[in-house]
Amino acid sequence: MTSPLEPPKIGVRIAGTGMALPSQELTNQDLERVMETSDEWILQRTGISSRRVIDTSKGECTLTLARESLARALEDSHLHGTDLDLLLLATMTMEMGCPPSACRLASDVGAGAIGAVDISGACCGFVYSMNLAYGMIRSGLYRTVAVVGADTLSTYMDYNDRGRSTAILFGDGAGAVILRATDDTSRGLIAQAMHSDGSRWQDLYIPEVLDRDFPPGHEPDPAALHRVQMNGRAVFKFAVGTFPDVIAQTLDRAGLRPDEVDHYICHQSNARILEAARERFGLPPEKLYVNIGTRGNTVAASVPMCLHELREQGRVRDGQRVMFVAFGGGLTWATSLWQL
Ligand code: UT7
Repeated sequence: MTSPLEPPKIGVRIAGTGMALPSQELTNQDLERVMETSDEWILQRTGISSRRVIDTSKGECTLTLARESLARALEDSHLHGTDLDLLLLATMTMEMGCPPSACRLASDVGAGAIGAVDISGACCGFVYSMNLAYGMIRSGLYRTVAVVGADTLSTYMDYNDRGRSTAILFGDGAGAVILRATDDTSRGLIAQAMHSDGSRWQDLYIPEVLDRDFPPGHEPDPAALHRVQMNGRAVFKFAVGTFPDVIAQTLDRAGLRPDEVDHYICHQSNARILEAARERFGLPPEKLYVNIGTRGNTVAASVPMCLHELREQGRVRDGQRVMFVAFGGGLTWATSLWQL
């Protein structure tokens, strides 16, 4: 009999991926028309020229994007909803506090009465969820787990001068991955890291209650309720330091050199942050994918969308090593290094 402390020897593979984007494109030129900004400023500071945002008049929301991405991932895996036995939905923009959007998602794809839960981990939600899903499969308790990252930050933006330091950055989207148990024990997680520092929560937050959610030194402001509040400079500085550090920590845990990883699939936060990380490790551009130019920062969706695009282009393949990396609100930072 297997001891509960010694999980059965099981490998884990990525069986399929999918992604979904909302119907509306929001370009820098569109933003120039509603706020004091310029295409040049946005491009130079972030690397973004356009992003996609939901059209609520068409019923688009986090759940609809998540559903489309998961349906595609199931199709890519040659599986059906009924094959899933657990679903993790990483999002900070679930429709309601109750029910978890994951439950409706599981029902919508015909997964039946499986375990389904939202994971609220801001930009790290997907990477955290990959690590959690791996553990659940390795334990022998689950065999086929869907991990979805979906966010619609556009619903927490002011598209006017008030919101110009955040509205330029964020876009909406969803990405999904199907993880499956395999007898090939060489496949799966090699190393990971998950961190948080809640003492820095006020660097990136969404206030919901006027007399509770504003940090000391900030005047409670009714107009800021339900709107992303971000100290961009502080988050930028944190990211430029932490991003490379957490990559180095994970490589160290795995006993690998930077060049022994085929792809660094990173949260698309800002092109300048990604470039700083690439330079620190001397990585060639083809090892660190950047699609922020037309996607913006899509929070929990950015990493699985990059993975899906790289697989579709045939650049990420079985046999390779890939590291997923993210940082964001919390503050949180995390990695997940896989042998595919
Ligand atoms: O995934 C979640 C994690 N979040 C991030 O990764 C965000 C990290 N931070 C950033 O990406 C950058 O801080 C931003 C792109 C958000 C902002 O760039 P920045 O170079 O840090 O700008 P700043 O906030 O320091 O502002 C510089 C100036 C300010 O004017 P003054 O005070 O120097 O006169 C701003 O008022 O730029 C002004 N500004 C703008 N100007 C034109 C702020 N937003 C805009 C805008 N257009 N949209």
